[in-house]
Amino acid sequence: MTEPITGGRAAADADWWRQAVVYQIYPRSFADANGDGIGDLPGITSRAGYLADLGVDAVWLSPFYPSALADGGYDVDDYRDVDPRLGSLDDFDVMIKALHDKGIKLIVDIVPNHSSNRHEWFRQALAAPKGSPERDRYVFRDGLGERGELPPADWTSMFGGPAWTPVGDGQWYLHLFAIEQPDFNWRNEEVRADFLTTLRFWSDRGVDGFRVDVAHALAKHLPDDLPSETELAAMDKATGTHLLWDRDEVHDIYADWRRVFDEYDPPRIAVAEAWVNPPWRRARYASAEGLGQAFNFDLLEADFDAGAFRRIITDNLEQAADSGSSTTWVFSNHDVIRHATRYGLPPNGDQPRRSGRAWLLSGGAEPALDAAAGLRRARAATLLMLALPGSAYLYQGEELGLGEVADIPAQDRQDPTFFRSPGVDVGRDGCRVPIPWTTGGDSFGFGDDGAHLPQPEWFGGLSVEAQEGDPASTLALYRDALALRRELQTTEALDWAPSGPEVLHVKRAGGWEAVANFGAGPAPLPEGEVLLASGPVEGGELPPETTVWLRTTA
Ligand code: NOJ
Ligand code: CA
Repeated sequence: MTEPITGGRAAADADWWRQAVVYQIYPRSFADANGDGIGDLPGITSRAGYLADLGVDAVWLSPFYPSALADGGYDVDDYRDVDPRLGSLDDFDVMIKALHDKGIKLIVDIVPNHSSNRHEWFRQALAAPKGSPERDRYVFRDGLGERGELPPADWTSMFGGPAWTPVGDGQWYLHLFAIEQPDFNWRNEEVRADFLTTLRFWSDRGVDGFRVDVAHALAKHLPDDLPSETELAAMDKATGTHLLWDRDEVHDIYADWRRVFDEYDPPRIAVAEAWVNPPWRRARYASAEGLGQAFNFDLLEADFDAGAFRRIITDNLEQAADSGSSTTWVFSNHDVIRHATRYGLPPNGDQPRRSGRAWLLSGGAEPALDAAAGLRRARAATLLMLALPGSAYLYQGEELGLGEVADIPAQDRQDPTFFRSPGVDVGRDGCRVPIPWTTGGDSFGFGDDGAHLPQPEWFGGLSVEAQEGDPASTLALYRDALALRRELQTTEALDWAPSGPEVLHVKRAGGWEAVANFGAGPAPLPEGEVLLASGPVEGGELPPETTVWLRTTA
């Protein structure tokens, strides 16, 4: 039986997402059309041509909703509006049309675990008494101690600091993230219904899908006697009964969402951000009765290492096949240190994702960064990833080979992790610096009047303008790879060809092969026409830390 070929812009069918290249835009840092230093929706519209030339199938837009930006927009005041600093609903309509006219789909971020503390419902909850329907939309508990002056539990939030905050009448509310992000109570029918309204609101406006923030946290079970932080940490996460994370009944919520998605033609799609363990628990989020797809962050967490990559690729393709979904590949996003930098730092034992933490804390001084090696490895890893079955999620600026900005002065920092974890974590601002469009000029072409996070001088050399027309540039590599990928796209299967321990050789149907040399020395270059390479290839050998795409007739 021949399997259908999915993916590519030609695929206008219900399966368009299965092998799509999705480009994440962090809207405040992409393009600033009105010169106030903050990226906006008209800025995105003005760059639709750039996105089409890059060759992406879809854009995933991080939150653009009204927000005080206590957490970069993941603190939403109103789920059915646009932040006036970013534009209006009319600007949104213009943007989506510009993208659709270029054949690019739009996925928006939805943040259902928590609203902001400025959300109308949270204001009502604060104004209403204990036990009121208004408070029931969030997670309130009486404090301990005689007058409720002690927190209901000693839990720590994800950004550091306590997860419970008092409201002055003996009650406390839960926020797994920042103080400004009160958690919703998903047992409340109004909350459930309101999110369905929001999904329809954006779907009716033409949105093609949703990226679901902290998808594994919505369902919670808080007994009268709350466990301590230590007891909570010791609870088994594999059984679907942990009090906070990845509870089985979270999938009832997504079954409701699926019914809404399926009201549309083609059905709206969704991808879950679900950091669950063991990894097989991802399958439920990715099931066709649920969200349909889930992020696999395994490559993002791995070192540049052939053995690690091989294991991750094999495991995730098996898991995807089990769930009926396609897998997702991610190296960079707005939450992690950019992979061109990560790969230029020494490995950090079993915590590769944290490898940049000490370096960031030192302002980029230590350990020594080998930026050239980082970029070489990032290009090789990306070219391998783009040859794999499944969807590729790219983060704005990675197509320029941008590195993390380490030396942002304290007074310019915005991320709550910086303020809540002094001396431990500098936060995520370094991957959110506005991207450079031109070699010089104000904010390197980002806008006419500065950038909301300072850009380093070296950004100019990596700008779109600096790379345009240079066939050896990282931008050209991404453009060539995405164009070829569309041409070569094929069934969602992969075979491994025999190779040395430092080399991965993958084969796709139709003669599309990728060979990645992770080693420090050259490797033999297999037979075939070299279509594309992540670095110079000469003399019949595959140089160290280089990937090639081959076409074979076999
Ligand atoms: C995950 C988002 O990607 C991150 O940026 C945010 O801080 C948390 N969820 C909380 O919403
Ligand atoms: Ca602006």
